Amino acid sequence: MVTKSLSFRAVKLKTKIAPSILGADYGDLNHYLQKLEPFSDLFHVDVMDGNFVPNLTIGAVVVNAIKTTIPLDCHLMINHPEEYIEDFAKAGAHIITVHAEATRDLKKTIEKIHDLGCLAGVSIDPKTPVSKIQKVLPLVDLVLIMSVEPGFGGQAFMPEVLPKIVQIRKAYPELDIEVDGGITHETAPLCKSAGANIFVAGSYILKADDPKAAAEKLRKAVS
Ligand code: DX5
Ligand code: ZN
Repeated sequence: MVTKSLSFRAVKLKTKIAPSILGADYGDLNHYLQKLEPFSDLFHVDVMDGNFVPNLTIGAVVVNAIKTTIPLDCHLMINHPEEYIEDFAKAGAHIITVHAEATRDLKKTIEKIHDLGCLAGVSIDPKTPVSKIQKVLPLVDLVLIMSVEPGFGGQAFMPEVLPKIVQIRKAYPELDIEVDGGITHETAPLCKSAGANIFVAGSYILKADDPKAAAEKLRKAVS
């Protein structure tokens, strides 16, 4: 029973723009997200536990309250995510991405995400080498390469992570590779050339005077 993944798989490897909703107006979230829908392929939902990262955001209760037609790409920056993935699956997550640095048994966790009917992603921090996730790459639907230290929006892009994207793309020509942190119309093309096809953008879109124009500029830069 992996119904959610089917429609997503059908558009695999298309370029996707995923606004990070970290900086959204949580007092009026659904109305806020509605305005982003026309130019979003995914909504990137940053879940932080104040432990794995030094910041605290939202949990499955808020994800459950989101009403949107856009698939939810939940980036779990939390320790022991295996204990919470069922809550996120039930709350409506389409993709659940866990950090290799924070997960006890990566293989088991990825299998559990699939069993819950979601797509499974694995993420690594800027300092973590690809070798840390080598064994699970054949199992995941998506790899999320952090291009800033996870925890906060608005940080500067770290170009030193680009070789990791090249390395993964070379070995897995059909895998979705997402990049997250400091993405702009200038940094996204570097990631695209390296092999990424999903671009998370927080401040660049949400803090722009015209979020739609910013998203369009970003999409054009990677088309
Ligand atoms: C950082 C988060 C990112 C963040 C991106 O830990 O994972 O998704 O929201 O924000 P920008 O695009 O502003 O770097
Ligand atoms: Zn993120």
